[in-house]
Amino acid sequence: MFESPANPETVFTYGAPQLKFGSGSSDEIGHDLGAFDVRRVLVITDPGIAATGHPQRILEQIAGTGIEARLFDAVHVEPTDVSIAEAVDFARDSGPWDAFVAVGGGSAIDTAKAVNLLCSNPGELLDYVNAPVGKGRNPEKQLSPLVAVPTTTGTGSESTTVCVLDVLEQHVKSGISHPRLRPTLAVVDPRLTITQPAGVTAACGMDILCHALESWTARPYTSYERKTADQRVPYCGANPIGDMWSEKAMSLLAGSFRTAVHHGDDEAAREQMALAATFAGMGFGNAGVHIPHANAYPIAGRVKDFRPAGYPDAEPMVPHGMAVSLTAPEAFRFTFEASPERHVRAAELLAPGPERPSDAGDLLPRVLTDLMRDIGIPNGIGAVGYDEGDVDALVEGTVKQQRLLATAPREAGEEDLAGILRRSLELW
Ligand SMILES: NC(=O)c1ccc[n+]([C@@H]2O[C@H](COP(=O)([O-])OP(=O)(O)OC[C@H]3O[C@@H](n4cnc5c(N)ncnc54)[C@H](O)[C@@H]3O)[C@@H](O)[C@H]2O)c1
Ligand SMILES: [Zn+2]
Repeated sequence: MFESPANPETVFTYGAPQLKFGSGSSDEIGHDLGAFDVRRVLVITDPGIAATGHPQRILEQIAGTGIEARLFDAVHVEPTDVSIAEAVDFARDSGPWDAFVAVGGGSAIDTAKAVNLLCSNPGELLDYVNAPVGKGRNPEKQLSPLVAVPTTTGTGSESTTVCVLDVLEQHVKSGISHPRLRPTLAVVDPRLTITQPAGVTAACGMDILCHALESWTARPYTSYERKTADQRVPYCGANPIGDMWSEKAMSLLAGSFRTAVHHGDDEAAREQMALAATFAGMGFGNAGVHIPHANAYPIAGRVKDFRPAGYPDAEPMVPHGMAVSLTAPEAFRFTFEASPERHVRAAELLAPGPERPSDAGDLLPRVLTDLMRDIGIPNGIGAVGYDEGDVDALVEGTVKQQRLLATAPREAGEEDLAGILRRSLELW
């Protein structure tokens, strides 16, 4: 496993935005913005979501309360440094803005976080991106209020302190992570999620599931060396509060995930998925994620020509949630020995029932692959275009994600990661 700390950590932290949840909650955003004393707001979304009419309806509702509101609808699905710079230029040129409202999935919410950062602080995007990709600078000034309105049931970005982006020139995914990036208010209205295509619901739902599972199985916060006050980071490792949100998210998924994919108009299932996404966001936003997310970066970043159903087909992509899920069964087979009881408990939460394989280590991988088959996730990284010859390059990409690998409950070296990736070429 890992070395026992000489001076074990005794402290964990919990942070979350204000939250308004439920059907109809997005009809009150104009009123909610009033509390922040704002006059001009920029509503940020992507073209696919704009086509559903949700952002325009929210904009009109805001304008109806006397606040000037304008739409930016050119967010790139899975944002890049270039797409974010365009959004920032638009916002800086048309500003100043008193607040931002992000309507969309992780792509729109993350873009809005970066726009807010760069409209409140000097410099350029890469100044703030995590080192070594960027300069890792901390935002010195307070950001403006950001209201995050998720339309996917997935990332939990409305709760987290992170913005994820593709840095095109360096061919890597990286991020900006700072407590100031956390949205001020999350407005989660399950009605907005009903228009998600089935393929988006499936990939985003696997993201929820992996957020919950990875934080539930993460290295415990007490297993680290004690930090000083100025060394504390939002991701503490598994802790009692993160555990609570993660367990509840898994139970909610057990009752709703397959239905939400196959019967997208089932409002009860959509509501449970929205709750699960929010709960998992509050869990992993404080505990952290590990091997499946670390692998997802190169799996998404080195895409060849895979084009998933339900997503814009202008460019090849392996969507975030799908990329995360493809190595999850084998990653949890690998981490099983670090905490067998947690892996078994997670499988029981996700698939309550009497049927059990004789090998306990096989239980969670089997629950995951059964689910992935049922909801149409591709059969392993082979099915999205990778083969044996790509494994070394993927490992190289994964080992760069040291911040995530440091949260794994078992140390994963290059050989271990290559084994996980190789066994994930075909899952069933
Ligand atoms: N900040 C975080 O904490 C965090 C966590 C996980 C992932 N991410 C990032 O979030 C991004 C992925 O976000 P996502 O999975 O939420 O999806 P997304 O925002 O990329 O959207 C996926 C697709 O679904 C469409 N769509 C979204 N909602 C819809 C709706 N209600 N009706 C119809 N179409 C809809 C979009 O137009 C888009 O084509 C990635 O860049 C990922 O790296 C961020
Ligand atoms: Zn994720």
